[in-house]
Amino acid sequence: MSAFPATRMRRLRQADWSRRLVSENTLTANDLVWAVVVSDTADPTEPVAAMPGVERLGLDTLANAAKRAEMLGIPAMAIFPHIDPAKKDEKGSEAFNKDGLVPQAIRTIKEAAPNVGVICDVALDPFTTHGHDGLMQDGAILNDETVNVLIKQALVQAEAGCDVIAPSDMMDGRIGAIRDALEAHGFTDTMILSYAAKYASGFYGPYREAIGSGAVLQGDKKSYQMDPANTEEALREVALDIDEGADMVMVKPGLPYLDIVQRISETFGVPTLAFQVSGEYAMIEAAAANGWIDGNRVMMESLMAFKRAGAAGIVTYFAPRAAEILNG
Ligand code: PBG
Repeated sequence: MSAFPATRMRRLRQADWSRRLVSENTLTANDLVWAVVVSDTADPTEPVAAMPGVERLGLDTLANAAKRAEMLGIPAMAIFPHIDPAKKDEKGSEAFNKDGLVPQAIRTIKEAAPNVGVICDVALDPFTTHGHDGLMQDGAILNDETVNVLIKQALVQAEAGCDVIAPSDMMDGRIGAIRDALEAHGFTDTMILSYAAKYASGFYGPYREAIGSGAVLQGDKKSYQMDPANTEEALREVALDIDEGADMVMVKPGLPYLDIVQRISETFGVPTLAFQVSGEYAMIEAAAANGWIDGNRVMMESLMAFKRAGAAGIVTYFAPRAAEILNG
């Protein structure tokens, strides 16, 4: 036996060219979905304290952002609305206002950058006075009644030109119900991205500040979002949503749930997206601002980690910054 290793893994690592040659995964701008927060009071933008570098965009600024996405080769934008508190009610009625902020944002993006896909969240939390994703009665979130409202919200979005309906509410049966309604109204080409495995997570904290639902949220979302302890349940959720007509599925949060991304992408072979959520963004930015990590390096490393786990794409607030680096 030689005193030295028979296999020298370091040979391939010694030069830039050989590292590039044997690299197993690639990240490009094509893998990114830009998460944007829009607001009807932002003129032109409002800062989000818990997410340095992220701003709520007014519609004019959103148009410029859409052009920037197109130029950078970012395939799609995901819209999250900050609704004027005066427009919120118990039932989230503003969610299906045809002239509301989301339909306006959809039209704005489509006009400014027709080749950028538009993805819209379907859930009531930006629109309700109690901050929940569904209708609430005596402290409980009603399932079937909520689904009926989500159908109306999805149809308004499809009508405004949204390409991808993305229910993030976690009600049971909503994917099938929304798919049926889309078909019945002639929106046969409108896609559905289901937030199939969405966990009740503390990582959403900064988002709730960004859309203005955090301060009002009554209680927690554990009766509809998943327990962070569970994996098999995520597989059941995904199987149901595919069966009900989802074209793509999402895992959320992202980095702490890479095992779920991997299990789902391997098990189902369905396009699996991961959401690098607000708290993940905030952690990287906070550490970088303190000089404790190299922000850009950690951003790129975290995005590559999603690809390694099998994600088809990553929804991230970092999209334009990452795309700029990727495009050189
Ligand atoms: C709710 C929704 C949430 C996010 C997107 N849609 C948060 C929640 O469930 O409370 C979180 C996004 C993020 O944290 O970046 N429908």
